[in-house]
Amino acid sequence: MEELVIARVVHVIAVILWIGGVAMVTTVIIPSVKRMTSKEDQIKTFETIEGKFAIQAKITTLLTGLSGFYMLYVLDGWHRYLELRFWWIHAMTLVWILFTLILYIFEPLFLHKVFKKYAEKNPEKTFNIMHMAHWVLLILSLITTAGAVAGCHGFLLFN
Ligand code: HEM
Repeated sequence: MEELVIARVVHVIAVILWIGGVAMVTTVIIPSVKRMTSKEDQIKTFETIEGKFAIQAKITTLLTGLSGFYMLYVLDGWHRYLELRFWWIHAMTLVWILFTLILYIFEPLFLHKVFKKYAEKNPEKTFNIMHMAHWVLLILSLITTAGAVAGCHGFLLFN
């Protein structure tokens, strides 16, 4: 079962880098950008930092998904999707689908353009909405991580 251990190590490292980055953007970067006085500085700083993080996040979400599905394959755990006590498997998959859609499809297709358009018109409101969206994703990710660690180590809410 060495391959399972290796996949788990890759999975956890990828999750740390990815969700840790989301926490940094949510609790440090966006609040700092919101405090800047010039709209131009706000947009430029945010786009530069978030752009760099988006590349990292694309790689870490991909590694998380690959290692996660690989573990399900090795464990032959697909039936878990049919059992309520494995709600944390559903939560992991949901969080992964959400981020994958945002990073690979919504961002490049329209989110970036929409952000720029509204940030030029009303930066305060735009950054507030974006901050809120980051908080929602971060909280969802943390609940998922807590549920996954507890579930993996035998603490199940439902039987
Ligand atoms: C396609 C998406 C994903 C799949 C298929 C997946 C699958 C898995 C599997 C099969 C395990 C091992 C379960 C066991 O040993 O019984 C696991 C563990 C774990 N996953 Fe995921 N996962 C995914 C995404 C995520 C996401 C998005 C997060 C965090 C937000 C996450 C966090 C964790 C954590 C923290 C563990 C526990 C590691 C441990 O305590 O040993 N996973 N995942």
